[in-house]
Amino acid sequence: MDRPFADSAQPFRFADLRRSSDDATAELRDGLLAQPARIPPKYFYDELGSHLFAAICSLPEYPLTRSEARLVAERGGEIAGAAGRGRLLIDLGAGDCSKAERLFPLLAPAGYVALDISADFLRSALGRLRQRFPDLPMSGVALDFTLGLGLPEGLLAPDAAPRLWFYPGSSIGNFAPEAACAFLAHIAEACAAHPAGGALLIGVDLVKDKAALDAAYDDALGVTAAFNLNALNHVNRLLPADFDVADWRHVAFFDTAAGRIEMHLEARRAVDVNLGGQARRFAAGERIHTEDSYKWSPDGFAALLAQAGFAGSRLWQDDEGGFALFLAWPG
Ligand code: AVI
Repeated sequence: MDRPFADSAQPFRFADLRRSSDDATAELRDGLLAQPARIPPKYFYDELGSHLFAAICSLPEYPLTRSEARLVAERGGEIAGAAGRGRLLIDLGAGDCSKAERLFPLLAPAGYVALDISADFLRSALGRLRQRFPDLPMSGVALDFTLGLGLPEGLLAPDAAPRLWFYPGSSIGNFAPEAACAFLAHIAEACAAHPAGGALLIGVDLVKDKAALDAAYDDALGVTAAFNLNALNHVNRLLPADFDVADWRHVAFFDTAAGRIEMHLEARRAVDVNLGGQARRFAAGERIHTEDSYKWSPDGFAALLAQAGFAGSRLWQDDEGGFALFLAWPG
């Protein structure tokens, strides 16, 4: 059930605009009965999955988050000069809000709106942020923003401020190129539609050495494996289903020709699973596709932004050339 503004007594506004559980049930059952089976990557992010993702960001093999943070630390003045201060910062996939928080001293935002699919995790993160920035207007919205960016205007405060959409962490890589273009086009439209204007600041992981990419998604401690396997626990609660994580192994690799990481769960043996009342047999070695993570070249991503309707863009790249932040604006 949607319960917008249910917690308006809290010191920040919070709306839960996630779809009904029936939609999630149908999406999961269809995906798991398909050939090959799939679980959309948004189902990684229950409360434990969000914590596991935060742990991934600290792994030595997963430099993406640190590269982005270093770029902000080293080039933040320039980035803020180009993006402008005093904007309403709209954070897509806020997670623990730490990526946006690093921008606050640089951008002096007029307000902060955090969007994430994981409602409880987001609520706690905003509660912590509220302690540190008591005077900043803040809102949280739990929703699957990949389905649409229509947000209740009451949450977008102050309304008159120009908007800076922030999509960090290379989450755009979790879309196939065509879907990425369509999603970016929605942001470009939203930027152009606001009377005070808008722009997009987006983090993009770049194509690099295959061995480094393989390790980033299959770390020695097994944190990414736990993150991948935990999707089965989440599915068990939502459908409900009866996956046993011990029957599955984590598989991740960079497909150089396709320019993407693929993550799968592979059956260790033949298993029968009850998917909310429907039975499915998985053969030994059969896979469930759980995620793609596309890596881009700087030119390729600039072309994608142009194709999506952004008239101009500028990029900052880290010294190793592994990560880029793009600022893009409509015509
Ligand atoms: C959220 N997203 C950008 C991460 C990525 O790198 O594609 C999710 C992730 N999957 C495994 N490790 C991290």
